[in-house]
Amino acid sequence: MTLEEKVGQLTQWRGEWSDTGPRVAEGGEEEIRAGKVGSFLGVYGAAYTRELQRVAVEESRLGVPLLFAHDVIHGFRTTFPMPLAEAASFNPELVERAARIGAIEGAAHGLHWTFAPMVDLSRDPRWGRIVEGSGEDPYLGSVMAAARVRGFQGDDLAAPDTLLATAKHFAAYGGAEGGRDYNTVDVSERTLHEIYLPPFRAAVEAGAGSVMAAFNEVAGIPMHAHEHLIEDVLRGAWGWDGVLVSDYTGILEMVAHGFSPSRVDAGIAALRAGVDVDMVSNIYLEDVPAAVRDGRLAEGIVDEAVRRVLRAKARLGLFDDPYRYSDPAREAAVTLTPEHRAASRELARQSIVLLKNEGGALPLRKDLGTLAVIGPLADQPRIVLGGWTAAGRAEDAVSVLEGLRRAVGPDTRVLHEAGAEIEGADTSGFASAVAAAEQADAVVLVLGEHHDMSSEAHNRTTLDLPGVQRQLAERVHAAGKPTVAVLLNGRPLSVGWLDENVPAILETWFLGVEMGPAVADVLFGDVSPSGKLPVTFPRNVGQIPIYYNHKSTGRPPDPDNKYTSKYIDVPWTPLYPFGHGLSYTTFEYGEPSVDRATIPVDGEVTVSVTVKNTGPRPGTEVVQLYLRDDFASVTRPVKELRGFQRVPLAPGEAKTVTFTLGPDDLAFYGQDMQRVVEPGTFTVFVGGSSAEAKRAGFTVE
Ligand code: NOJ
Repeated sequence: MTLEEKVGQLTQWRGEWSDTGPRVAEGGEEEIRAGKVGSFLGVYGAAYTRELQRVAVEESRLGVPLLFAHDVIHGFRTTFPMPLAEAASFNPELVERAARIGAIEGAAHGLHWTFAPMVDLSRDPRWGRIVEGSGEDPYLGSVMAAARVRGFQGDDLAAPDTLLATAKHFAAYGGAEGGRDYNTVDVSERTLHEIYLPPFRAAVEAGAGSVMAAFNEVAGIPMHAHEHLIEDVLRGAWGWDGVLVSDYTGILEMVAHGFSPSRVDAGIAALRAGVDVDMVSNIYLEDVPAAVRDGRLAEGIVDEAVRRVLRAKARLGLFDDPYRYSDPAREAAVTLTPEHRAASRELARQSIVLLKNEGGALPLRKDLGTLAVIGPLADQPRIVLGGWTAAGRAEDAVSVLEGLRRAVGPDTRVLHEAGAEIEGADTSGFASAVAAAEQADAVVLVLGEHHDMSSEAHNRTTLDLPGVQRQLAERVHAAGKPTVAVLLNGRPLSVGWLDENVPAILETWFLGVEMGPAVADVLFGDVSPSGKLPVTFPRNVGQIPIYYNHKSTGRPPDPDNKYTSKYIDVPWTPLYPFGHGLSYTTFEYGEPSVDRATIPVDGEVTVSVTVKNTGPRPGTEVVQLYLRDDFASVTRPVKELRGFQRVPLAPGEAKTVTFTLGPDDLAFYGQDMQRVVEPGTFTVFVGGSSAEAKRAGFTVE
């Protein structure tokens, strides 16, 4: 390969949108012929990618096949719930299935590579990208990361229905100061290793073929040049040998960071750190060859990156058959099938979290005389898809209003009023909203955020309902009819007023193409809600950061003691804790027990607990196990999730659930940052949320 052909393999070009779908920019085919491009972002379509692949394979000098990459985040054409919502299902099997379906559909459209899963944890709901991850917990985040990698990549990456998965954004992107996307991250080595890195490790251990660098700096070094974290940790300690891709213009952005004085310096720093693919900056293509010829960069470093890219192409089977993914017949056959829609609906149902249900306000009856569906989020087929829709289309999606209309009995009249805009101060729709409520036997308020208020670059400084939605809720509620709330949002919202005034609240996030039917399934009680919060809901934005796995401090909050760690204006507790989620039935936990009181440092202990459905309906409880190392040479969180199981129970049925804890669960990073299990007492908490748990204990000797 010539040096130019080598940097060509490392170069990723961006597609453009045309009337007929995604296309390469003008002149793109000439660049392929010249060997100046190794992969494309956002170009898909079986016939079109086939043609571009033909140009690469038959008309470029070396005939190296192209890679087609895209953000297949929560489905390709069949849109699934946003990742944060999927995490609320606590169901890794279904989440794996969702990723599998995204891969089946995407790969049939010629794609080889997805920029997912996003495995960034965040403790800051102001950050818009919290919706793209699995919430705040490293254990849940790791389980979901591995599930998604398995789903995208299947058993055999060379199979034509798999996508190369990308764990992103390496690392600590969710720690942006102030919740401002792309902002500085200042994190201790301990928090980095205990909180932010575990999901990446889980993705790598599940076989993720690719990792994407993060836009942010960590400890003063932009991640696109972070030799320690990329070379020593990711490729060194973890033994990962995949392709590391830049995040968009992340290489060029090192100039703005004040780290690289010029484009070429940025390119050299990124290649030295092990960033193999240059997405969009074109620095490797345009600036790096001269640096190699001047002796500023060893060609061997470029060679290593090229080897990794070619290895990925080989693993995908492209040297055996470069066209195996681009199959028009399969594209037509596997896209948006009834089976895929059904899988999306099932995951959507399980992602819904019942935050509150006083006096059995939910479920609603299907044979009500008149149902008023009020709020700016009710009739929004595009919004239910959420952000990052890949090839998802609003016309395939079912809004909440439409889902409810389809579900009610033939004699039920459904009235709808938006009442207000999502944002803005206009209250002129309030009167007709109140009039509709007055005519109704029950009111469903559908409130929340536009999908464009979360995801990349969409950060907020408040977690309140936007615009005049809260006032709308107050006015409609004052009509005095039985009123419940359905929330659509991409982050925790501070809905204290609703919590105090409305008897039932369903957290429904953005649930994808089948959102309306899934919400109706739960609202009318065909399915009992079973989702749990993957992230803490603060009472107000001032409580941030607030997360369940915090430290005790020397002065833990105590209402009777002024000089303890709390606020004078709001309680220190969250509005809804991590792991919270109710059901239409009730569950009773027995006392947890351990199979041995004492274990050696390399031993295992089994925790058992009996859970009984004590209510009138079938339901599924997500039984959660948390652990605390009571005293250690480094202070430990008050509790940490170490296991969970979804347990379906018929009315009156009881099951005994067991969890086995071993050295990996008990270990932490000691003062020397080596993993250690220390002798001493441990407390186990078992329950239906991080705040409600029964305890047991054991000792490590
Ligand atoms: C920028 C985003 O940060 C990243 O997540 C995404 O994969 C790329 N753009 C490509 O769309």
